[in-house]
Amino acid sequence: MLRPKSSTPAAQLIAGRRILALGAKLAALGEGPLAGAIIETAQASQLETLGVGGHDLVLIDADAWDAGALASAVKALSALRACPPVLMVGATLPAGLVRNVLRLDAADILEAPFTDDQVQSAVAGLLADAQPAVMPSGATARCWAVSGAVGGSGATTVAIEIANALAAQSGKDRAVCFVDLNLADGAAAAYLGAAPTVRLADFGAAADRIDAAMLQAIVTPVAKGLDLMAGVRDPSAFDTMGREAVLRLLEVACECYEWVILDMPRHRRSWTLEALAGCDEVLVISELTVPALLAARAHSDEIEDGLGTGLRPRIVLNRLASRMFGPAPSMAEAEKALQRKAEAGISSDWEAAAASANLGGPIAQHRPKSKIVKDVQALVERLAAQPPRREASKAA
Ligand SMILES: Nc1ncnc2c1ncn2[C@@H]1O[C@H](COP(=O)(O)OP(=O)(O)OP(=O)(O)O)[C@@H](O)[C@H]1O
Ligand SMILES: [Mg+2]
Repeated sequence: MLRPKSSTPAAQLIAGRRILALGAKLAALGEGPLAGAIIETAQASQLETLGVGGHDLVLIDADAWDAGALASAVKALSALRACPPVLMVGATLPAGLVRNVLRLDAADILEAPFTDDQVQSAVAGLLADAQPAVMPSGATARCWAVSGAVGGSGATTVAIEIANALAAQSGKDRAVCFVDLNLADGAAAAYLGAAPTVRLADFGAAADRIDAAMLQAIVTPVAKGLDLMAGVRDPSAFDTMGREAVLRLLEVACECYEWVILDMPRHRRSWTLEALAGCDEVLVISELTVPALLAARAHSDEIEDGLGTGLRPRIVLNRLASRMFGPAPSMAEAEKALQRKAEAGISSDWEAAAASANLGGPIAQHRPKSKIVKDVQALVERLAAQPPRREASKAA
């Protein structure tokens, strides 16, 4: 799929949107002002049978059809219960037709000749007005960060289950925003079966323009109450995505959602400590091997020292298995190596983890009976019931 050619807010709003175009010539706009959108062309006469379900906008070339076909198309649109925004363009726009188009819930008219910028801003304007209401709630989300002690310890898997459990617990739309901060090659989208369309680095230069509407164009809904913020694969993203842009995205996410869950990269970035400072929980995920436990202790200490706020990461031991398969440390031995108590243990269940990753979606969706789901649920209930530690440490 084409990516937007620029990182303007209009281009970001358009990226990934499904546009139904009535008129063959309109397809060319996908190479220009509507780059990044998914454009499907159809005949005006097809509109009644085709419906517009799943499209974010209908674009009509009035010059491509005779008056009768246009009138029927507009009539079909006005009969829809939920009509997407409509943009009609053309050099010959009969007044009666224009009046009927403008009677639709959301519509605009563009008279030919028009520039690429005019098309882009008209489409973006309609899409922005039709944004589902993700408005700053005025409150600040509770934010939890999840970081792996070593590569492959299960940080992404656990973070996804935590986010999903919080979304289910909330029961509200857009309760949780899962943010994959592994900017170059994060796997969360693949685990969730989602396909990001934006290049996060495109926001690098526009940090101060990031707002709730732009956030909405970036996130992908993945389950009831759960949205994912992740970019397309981008090997240079850690260099090109500025600190201000990362922190601004997190700030806006915290204004718009009840919960924000961060999948943190293990290696420290210019924004790592500031992002963690905004969190009320930091979870370090370890597996039960001696090297991982030693790394978990060191990683946790480094975060605690770096923050200097007294916030101590909680260590979660992942992939707990019975000792049938070899000499793994017990929980007690693990805590000895960690020199502290572990917050929780999560059972090993390779079948459930692999099946869900392959099917795309949380383990709770595909293998709801897995012990992983039960263990994460217990952890989430315990942590969510505690007062946010950020506030507690401020109050102290
Ligand atoms: N509790 C578990 N039981 C069984 N398999 C698990 C469990 N948790 C994670 N896995 C599996 O372990 C592998 C690594 O998991 P994941 O990608 O979540 O780790 P990560 O720490 O995010 O890795 P990376 O360092 O690459 O970011 C995956 O195959 C995942 O399915
Ligand atoms: Mg990961």
